[in-house]
Amino acid sequence: MAIPATCRISVLEEPGKMTLKEVPVPAITDEEILVKVEGCGICGTDVHEYKGDPFKYCPVQLGHEGTGEIVALGRNVTKDFTGKPLKVGDKIVTGLKPCGECDTCRFHPEIKELCNGGEIFGLLPGAEHYLNGWFGEYMKVNAGGVVFNVSDMDRDLRILIEPAAVIVHAVEQAKQIFNFKFGSYVLVQGCGPIGLLLLTMVRCLGVRNIIACDGDANRLEFAKKLGARYTVNGLAGDAVEEVAEITGGGAEMVFQCTGSPKAASRAWKYVRRGGSFCELGFFTNNGDTTYSPHLDMCNKQVKACGSWTYQAGDWVQSFDFLKEAQERGLPVTDLITHKYPLDRMGEAMEMNISMKGLKIAYVAG
Ligand SMILES: NC(=O)c1ccc[n+]([C@@H]2O[C@H](COP(=O)([O-])OP(=O)(O)OC[C@H]3O[C@@H](n4cnc5c(N)ncnc54)[C@H](O)[C@@H]3O)[C@@H](O)[C@H]2O)c1
Ligand SMILES: [Zn+2]
Ligand SMILES: [Zn+2]
Repeated sequence: MAIPATCRISVLEEPGKMTLKEVPVPAITDEEILVKVEGCGICGTDVHEYKGDPFKYCPVQLGHEGTGEIVALGRNVTKDFTGKPLKVGDKIVTGLKPCGECDTCRFHPEIKELCNGGEIFGLLPGAEHYLNGWFGEYMKVNAGGVVFNVSDMDRDLRILIEPAAVIVHAVEQAKQIFNFKFGSYVLVQGCGPIGLLLLTMVRCLGVRNIIACDGDANRLEFAKKLGARYTVNGLAGDAVEEVAEITGGGAEMVFQCTGSPKAASRAWKYVRRGGSFCELGFFTNNGDTTYSPHLDMCNKQVKACGSWTYQAGDWVQSFDFLKEAQERGLPVTDLITHKYPLDRMGEAMEMNISMKGLKIAYVAG
């Protein structure tokens, strides 16, 4: 494949402004990889940046849920993170690279996801990192970048790998406090891409009684296609009673996936006595919430956990999860409801904000 001298990338120059830029395609070193981008999902984090740049990254080339084909491979890059060989033509995704130097990395490698200095392509600020994000025609993997060879998956499935890794991690946290059984009542509050992928995974684990909870009727409808047996309108005044009725006293496991403090407060009410609770719905600080320590926690003896991002092992598990969902005929790639070319990334961001779709993605030519 002929590599052009220049290519286009989409840069968030300031909040609300996605600009198309023409940049040189650099010659890669022996340690780098050049990738022709096929597509990249838009993450809630990208939209946060678009709306206000909370991390002060601008200008930044966003896009961390991307995938594409290797078009040039440094001679010293022979294997992916798992040891699988790499060659030109392979399809890859890029993962999170912990800093390796902080106390967490050094002394608690089992919780590497809590490293504060980790790097992911697509969230590296400044013009010096142009081409290190996936919202472009080409992207460059720097020396030592975490890469996975996922050539055996189709493009849309690959676009879902990063959010799926979030879900694998959350379910692994939940397994430490809850034993998933075929007959378990598991409630998923919030049916955005995160909640929907989560209930898909719980379905793939064999759980029958999945309750999807959201205020949006279309999202609840889709939740049914992905494996939910029951749906509950979480905005309705009697949602707690409805859940109690379906489950005979409350859900045994509740996953909170909304990003809404009000919803997070209510989520505790859905848990049955002796049940468990996993909070994964706040990647950004949307404020505090309230719960009754007596009624919601102590008296019910609830076991609770939080979940934060993922580790490399979660990415590897996410490949099998997505393949399993696809093989079971669960329409997981239908989660990608809108696809935009590179010169319409501003519109793509606005579509995401409008909540009219589910996963919005950049898809190349
Ligand atoms: N833990 C992590 O590492 C991690 C990683 C990625 C994303 N997240 C977080 O996960 C959350 C969900 O992400 P998403 O992309 O699916 O977002 P989203 O905004 O598309 O989905 C949230 C859903 O919650 C629903 N909701 C709001 N209030 C509700 C209520 N009272 N009852 C029931 N449903 C309600 C909304 O209708 C919406 O469908 C975000 O807040 C994000 O920050 C966490
Ligand atoms: Zn993301
Ligand atoms: Zn670290």
